[in-house]
Amino acid sequence: LAACGKKEKTTLVMATNAEFPPYEYYDGDKIVGIDAEIAEAVAKELGLELKIEDMAFDSIIAAVTSGKADIGAAGMTVTEERKENVNFTDTYAHASQVIIVKEGSSIQSPDDLEGAKIGVQLGTTGDIYAGDIKDAEIERYSKGFEAVQSVLQDKVEAVIIDNEPAKRFLEEAEGLVILDEAFTEEDYAIAVAKDNDELVDDINAALKTLKENGTLDEIIAKYISA
Ligand code: ARG
Repeated sequence: LAACGKKEKTTLVMATNAEFPPYEYYDGDKIVGIDAEIAEAVAKELGLELKIEDMAFDSIIAAVTSGKADIGAAGMTVTEERKENVNFTDTYAHASQVIIVKEGSSIQSPDDLEGAKIGVQLGTTGDIYAGDIKDAEIERYSKGFEAVQSVLQDKVEAVIIDNEPAKRFLEEAEGLVILDEAFTEEDYAIAVAKDNDELVDDINAALKTLKENGTLDEIIAKYISA
């Protein structure tokens, strides 16, 4: 209940979609990754215990706005539309949307996506951008990796997805390539309920500490080789 005093709060509940390496994914039955570790470090700074709830990506904002979760940390891109429903903390990572195609595909740049059959993860920015492409036919998958596998199976011609997960997924899907030309640049941040300015401030202060003491860079370097 929102009425619970801050003193009684002992956990920080994080909503995520653990299908998104290297930001969040399962290692056995444990959710690991950059977001999981950053949230863990933030929770520690705030004297809270982190609890991670795995769900569909397009349920995360609702979990945060309803109070089911305190934060959404899921490689989530800051967008104006999402800002209407949640507050975002300071950004902690920079990303881009890239295009994955089969080796030798006639699609060689974002312009070639016109009229193409495109796979995306439901509710992601890739989904939104695909919707802006003229005459594109969009296939929405609950998992990003399913979309990538669909290129191999010729169910779609291209996938629009975040750059780092794209690299990870390609390690397990031979015969695909990432086009050199990225689609858009984005920033990731943690989503917090609109009425919870205090938590945004606390997380920003924690992120600042973790940036200054090198923890943030350490976590990122552990998962992404420069
Ligand atoms: N950055 C993209 C977005 O915010 C995709 C994020 C997907 N994250 C995930 N954990 N599946 O829409």
